[in-house]
Amino acid sequence: MATAAALHVLAAVAALVVAVAAGDSDPGKIGICHGRVGSNLPRPSAAAALLRQNGITKARLFLPDPAVLPAFAAAGLDLTVGVPNENLTFLSASGPDGAAQWLRSAVFAYAPADRVRYLAVGNEVLYNNQFYAPHLVPAMRNLHAALVSLGLDARVKVSSAHASSVLAASYPPSAGAFDAASLPVLRPMLRFLADTGAPFMVNTYPFISHVNDPANVQLAYAVFGDGAAPVRDGAMVYTNLFDATVDAVVAALEREGFGAVPVAVTETGWPTAGHPAATPENAAAYNAKIVERAARGVGTPRRPGAPVETFLFDLYDEDGKPGAEFERHFGIFKADGSKAYDINFA
Ligand SMILES: *[C@@H]1O[C@H](CO)[C@@H](O)[C@H](O)[C@H]1NC(C)=O
Repeated sequence: MATAAALHVLAAVAALVVAVAAGDSDPGKIGICHGRVGSNLPRPSAAAALLRQNGITKARLFLPDPAVLPAFAAAGLDLTVGVPNENLTFLSASGPDGAAQWLRSAVFAYAPADRVRYLAVGNEVLYNNQFYAPHLVPAMRNLHAALVSLGLDARVKVSSAHASSVLAASYPPSAGAFDAASLPVLRPMLRFLADTGAPFMVNTYPFISHVNDPANVQLAYAVFGDGAAPVRDGAMVYTNLFDATVDAVVAALEREGFGAVPVAVTETGWPTAGHPAATPENAAAYNAKIVERAARGVGTPRRPGAPVETFLFDLYDEDGKPGAEFERHFGIFKADGSKAYDINFA
């Protein structure tokens, strides 16, 4: 028991050291995702200004949109830039030189490299785009090699954002294990992340867990509510699903021998309409807790004191998103720049 606890502390310290080595000066500051699948979205310069007005310094873009990158870079935002799935076949075959050419023409032509913090290569490929799975790690390696040749590898880290279904087991958190079918891709990816000092990126939506299984995932547990029945896991106690999910990822990383790789949550949020639990009140409660925990850098029970770099989804509602009605209502701000509910980022 003492040894296991000591190992957890060591893993947490190692995670911190990696985060610092990656040049991540302020992992505690919250970031916000800016999806643009909507018909009524404000201009990119207005979106970037809105983030700055609210004290936000980090943003995630899902693709290197030439119409968006310059405005976000000019606003001084630290950017996580998505490398679209459709580009992965080319990038896996291109070699480092082709990847460098792609980076220069698709990304750095629009945003100077010193504004780019992460390349998120592919989005949820293992969840919904198996076609691209064999290309994922080779593309990541080529992009990293390209960054090395450009002298940017210390500054720009290469990772890939996963759906939380990358876990086959997550309850209790200590039982966390990756989906066996994904291990042939994940194992070399984890080696790559460990070798290059990049975080494991995961998207997680306690709201959706609650919607899919309300009997077992109670609203209070999903929304950081008071009075959620705690989940006991050995010596650890979980009062919310966010911590439990992050720690299930940590346990899965440890199981594969990569307990020092930091976890970044590249999407989380709560919608304001489209389901009885999707209310402005619940969205305000959930996102306020996420912001507060990021600011305090509290970490999770398994990695106390190791901040979980987190990006909220989404800056605005996106009326062009497919799927359930709530998918179109994750916006924290309305198109006129007013808040969809009371929330502060300072
Ligand atoms: C990949 O990326 C570039 C730049 O973003 C884009 O113009 C191009 O069409 C993409 N390639 C493929 C094969 O889709």
